[in-house]
Amino acid sequence: MNEKITVITGCSSGFGLLISIELAKSGYHVIATMRDLRKQDLLLHEAKMNGVESSITVHELDVTSQTSINNLKAYIEKIGRIDVLINNAGFAGAGFVEEIPIAEYRKQFETNFFGVIAVTQAFLPLMRAQQNGLIINMSSISGRMGFPGMSPYVSSKHALEGWSECLRLEMQPFGIHVALIEPGSFKTNIWSSGKHITDQSMQKESPYFHYMKQIEQYIEKGEPKFGDPIKVAKKVAKIASQSNPSLRVPIGKGVSINLFFKNFFQWKLWERLFLKILYK
Ligand SMILES: NC(=O)c1ccc[n+]([C@@H]2O[C@H](COP(=O)([O-])OP(=O)(O)OC[C@H]3O[C@@H](n4cnc5c(N)ncnc54)[C@H](OP(=O)(O)O)[C@@H]3O)[C@@H](O)[C@H]2O)c1
Repeated sequence: MNEKITVITGCSSGFGLLISIELAKSGYHVIATMRDLRKQDLLLHEAKMNGVESSITVHELDVTSQTSINNLKAYIEKIGRIDVLINNAGFAGAGFVEEIPIAEYRKQFETNFFGVIAVTQAFLPLMRAQQNGLIINMSSISGRMGFPGMSPYVSSKHALEGWSECLRLEMQPFGIHVALIEPGSFKTNIWSSGKHITDQSMQKESPYFHYMKQIEQYIEKGEPKFGDPIKVAKKVAKIASQSNPSLRVPIGKGVSINLFFKNFFQWKLWERLFLKILYK
């Protein structure tokens, strides 16, 4: 393969699928990975529609399985290079802290955090030997600010942000760059099949039922205004072409303004505003 090689995780839907198409259109050879290969038809259909099917290879990868990661690693080592790694796979764990079994937090971190570490570790030796490479981690506005009823997701993305800062500082001297994409709300499956709400917080007997319902209603009300995920895919393609992108790339409606308020208002003022909207 003469083209630059990019590996993307979680390409069965949403951002991962669209980023695969955008990067293939930009001239990359994309190794589009997904944990269930039976879901590849949508990606292959889109690739065909865009005339880029020969630039996309689908490969199995479950980011929580070291065996699966090792198989992909062996495949990439045969190709002999990797230019861009995009850690995109993720899901959103929700519920109230008191009611979320610790096992659910662990599951969340296995995918959104430890999965990213394990996949990255697999490819760092190759990138270091090349003395170049770009790692793009799909974070979220939830990696910068808390949200009630979403603590598994929010904490996994906060951990990803801190870890990415360390990785960036460690790898820059070796010619490897790290960037975080921080989207607001975009129309993908993360709001349906990708959202795992702890059952207990959805039961009428729960002391949090009313609060959880209000949060759900707030999210539902906002849904028509969620962004088009193609914007994120195009932004990622642009970042991939930069030799040294910024560490953080916030994107989406209201994201910059929310970050501004969070960073420049006193927390007490910020939480008063926030709770006024969310808890009536
Ligand atoms: N959409 C938003 O508003 C938004 C905002 C901020 C950040 N994000 C982030 O964007 C990323 C992509 O999500 P999305 O919005 O595109 O949602 P999505 O359509 O639900 O896509 C999530 C992808 O991750 C995959 N995945 C989940 N667990 C996996 C595992 N263990 N191994 C491999 N793949 C796995 C899913 O595969 P299956 O089909 O097999 O489940 C799917 O391909 C996530 O990291 C999410 O946190 C999304």
